[in-house]
Amino acid sequence: MKPVLVLLVLGLALGACGSTAGSTPTAPGAPQTPVEPDPLRAAAAAAGKRIGAAVQASYLTDPRFSAVFARHFDYVTAEYEMKWDPIERTRGSEDFSGGDAIASYAAAHGMQVKGHALVWHQALPSWVGSLPADDLRTEFERHVRSVASHYRGRVAAWDVVNEAIDDSGAGLRDTLFRQKLGDRYIADAFRIAHDADPQALLFYNDYSGEGLGAKSDAIYELVKGLLTQGVPIDGVGLQMHVRAGAPPTDDAVASNMRRLAALGLRVNISEMDVRVGDIGGATPANLDRQRAVYHSLVALCVAEPACHGVTFWGFTDAHSWIYGAYGADAPLLFDAQYAAKPAFYGVLDALMRR
Ligand code: XIL
Repeated sequence: MKPVLVLLVLGLALGACGSTAGSTPTAPGAPQTPVEPDPLRAAAAAAGKRIGAAVQASYLTDPRFSAVFARHFDYVTAEYEMKWDPIERTRGSEDFSGGDAIASYAAAHGMQVKGHALVWHQALPSWVGSLPADDLRTEFERHVRSVASHYRGRVAAWDVVNEAIDDSGAGLRDTLFRQKLGDRYIADAFRIAHDADPQALLFYNDYSGEGLGAKSDAIYELVKGLLTQGVPIDGVGLQMHVRAGAPPTDDAVASNMRRLAALGLRVNISEMDVRVGDIGGATPANLDRQRAVYHSLVALCVAEPACHGVTFWGFTDAHSWIYGAYGADAPLLFDAQYAAKPAFYGVLDALMRR
């Protein structure tokens, strides 16, 4: 191609790239429309990560909630409606409507779904606790198979077993599942879930095991043992419910992520929120401290190849499971009026590797 033609083509190309076609300059003094913060989901996609939030179906019909949620997140966790109690309050009668609404919203908005949680000792139907062991095994196996089958093809991953390690880290939590079904209930749940939905990634999920310590070691030994038994497990969810005054250290979380990755597992940050009530509430200085905690912990996931995503346990302080036990915990990225807080920018900067 002749040089002059190349210059012409290059000029046109640069003009098009650099053009502000379609945007008219704002006249001085004209009302400024509020500037939408850059979408987290674009920054996360560029970093090769999923960015998610836990929601309840009823929130999705609120236009303000939906607008912010769909703009910033591409990974949704059912905060409540895919647990056993909301599905089967009456034995033998299943209601999937809440989880179905979340899965439908996700499909309509280009999001993936993480199911939560097939087996948890809380949010159980009232009739489960009094079952004799044989009946519990029958119902346990039926429930895991039924829910995993129902969402087959619509859920990218499951928290199969949630919070099964005792807070002391001394071993398994003494739940009715362990008492009546034995320690094998965990492996059984993963095997049934995999059989029902072979495509879904299967996670073990827990809290207070994000860094290093007795509980973290117990989680590590649990999943290592499951892998040794050939149990189909794909990853570990680190819930990351932290207090701004005492977050797990970056080094400890990074080391824990690395040792789980060395087992061949994925990790994700699965339920992140950062309370500021324990440092005196939502003052500007404390909101900046919250921003720094969000930034450093999300940056660890961005830096760890085995960390496939970060999910926040909600995204607006208008809908958090935390009720401000220490005053205004203000734990999430947007305030109750859906304005982005410093925490939001901490997450965005971490995703942008800034
Ligand atoms: C919480 C929900 O946010 C509440 O709405 C519900 O009443 C109880 O469960 N760890 C978990 C989540 O794994 O399932 C819990 O979610 C929060 C702690």
